Amino acid sequence: MTIRVVILLSGRGSNFQAIVEAQLPIDIVAVVSNRPQAAGLDYARARGLHTVALDHTDHPDREAFDTLLADEIERHQPDLVVLAGYMRILSAAFIARFEGRLLNIHPSLLPMFPGLKTHERALAEGIKVHGCTVHFVTAQLDHGPIVIQAAVPVRTDDTPATLAARVLMQEHRIYPQAIRWFAEGRLEINRGCVNLKDDPTSQSVLSTGA
Ligand code: GRF
Repeated sequence: MTIRVVILLSGRGSNFQAIVEAQLPIDIVAVVSNRPQAAGLDYARARGLHTVALDHTDHPDREAFDTLLADEIERHQPDLVVLAGYMRILSAAFIARFEGRLLNIHPSLLPMFPGLKTHERALAEGIKVHGCTVHFVTAQLDHGPIVIQAAVPVRTDDTPATLAARVLMQEHRIYPQAIRWFAEGRLEINRGCVNLKDDPTSQSVLSTGA
């Protein structure tokens, strides 16, 4: 059985591409962007996918825009909504409409470094292990039940750009994995934590990348 997925993005869409290329048991029923020029939309069109551009600058009121966005997404009756580099804070009302079927990827090992400029901040703190996280979205920004993480060693000669590139390679690995588990109905949320069904030791929820 395939599930219906709506992708939400704002930019280049490399995570979206990785999801497409992973050939998951999903049907991408729409790719929606708040930026009409997003490169991710071009890729979607080239693959023959249905795209929607809703320019947020035409709708200064965040609540009103998010209602429009949520209505558009719901028209496609998704089982899952995937934030793939969607660079706007979502209103609590939007999140409430999709809670439990809304995934995000964040370029840090949450709960460390929520928010922006994660690689710069990781380097400034001198931490030795950095990484990325796929999590269910809740009303608190960059929090919510963690599905999978990948760790990346920080090198002494790293710049924000080199570190970001190494983390991004892991993002492209763990996001498709998380979506596959969701599609297989294997993710259970229990008191704020995700358990992977039929994996008693939960080993596969922890993933370490080189
Ligand atoms: C990624 O680093 C992701 O973790 C963050 O935004 C970036 C999106 O990149 N949420 P892309 O558009 O998928 O290439």
